[in-house]
Amino acid sequence: MGAKIISFATQKGGSGKTTLLMLTAAAIHNRTDKKILVIDSDPQRSVKDMYKYEQELYPNARQYDVFAFNWQQPNPEVNFQKTIQLAENKYDIIFNDVPGKIHGKEVYYSILISDIVIVPIVASSLDLSATVDFLKTIPEVRKDKEKLGYKLDVYGVINKKDNTIEHQKLYELAGLGGMELFYSPISNKVRYKRVISTIYDVTDPNDPNDEFNKYFDEFMIKCLS
Ligand SMILES: Nc1ncnc2c1ncn2[C@@H]1O[C@H](COP(=O)(O)OP(=O)(O)OP(=O)(O)O)[C@@H](O)[C@H]1O
Ligand SMILES: [Mg+2]
Repeated sequence: MGAKIISFATQKGGSGKTTLLMLTAAAIHNRTDKKILVIDSDPQRSVKDMYKYEQELYPNARQYDVFAFNWQQPNPEVNFQKTIQLAENKYDIIFNDVPGKIHGKEVYYSILISDIVIVPIVASSLDLSATVDFLKTIPEVRKDKEKLGYKLDVYGVINKKDNTIEHQKLYELAGLGGMELFYSPISNKVRYKRVISTIYDVTDPNDPNDEFNKYFDEFMIKCLS
């Protein structure tokens, strides 16, 4: 059947949606034979720009596909749903980088078409209230999906983790909006800034001590099995 649609969303900017999405997509791209499409709805085109840059730099490398989608058009949701319908039969996984703005149509429709939503969570009081507000909107969309006969799984991933008390408190968010938290967090590490790629894996898949691999194993079990 059609592709699994996985959106990375939060209301809070800078929490790591694009980073986590790209790390995950590159790892699946390298470690499995699944066909991946990334939908980049960021007006700044972060994934698409990286795609073009790497395409020129490494013309013979195998990249995953990236499609830039513009929400600033009349009735974007109609076009968006058409885009998804066309892509669903061509790909195994569609990753969707959802632009911010909790009240915009883009968030609602992105979640409506998703099988899974991944919410990167970063600790700081400001980030947290935005995340809580976002999670509170989930049950309504879930209800709309259930009416159509679909279910929605929501997973939180703690990103930029450190040892502060704020970070320890993040585990209290589990359950909000039906969100299940990943056991495996992603730390604040320079390598996650540097090794963002549409081609290369962030790490050696065989290193069992690498935290990214722990996150990735959990991702595969929760989201793709
Ligand atoms: N685990 C991490 N360790 C270190 N830096 C990180 C990590 N995750 C994200 N970053 C950095 O934080 C910044 C914001 O990350 P990113 O762009 O992925 O967030 P975003 O949620 O997509 O933001 P936006 O809402 O602007 O699209 C970037 O500079 C990125 O390199
Ligand atoms: Mg982004």
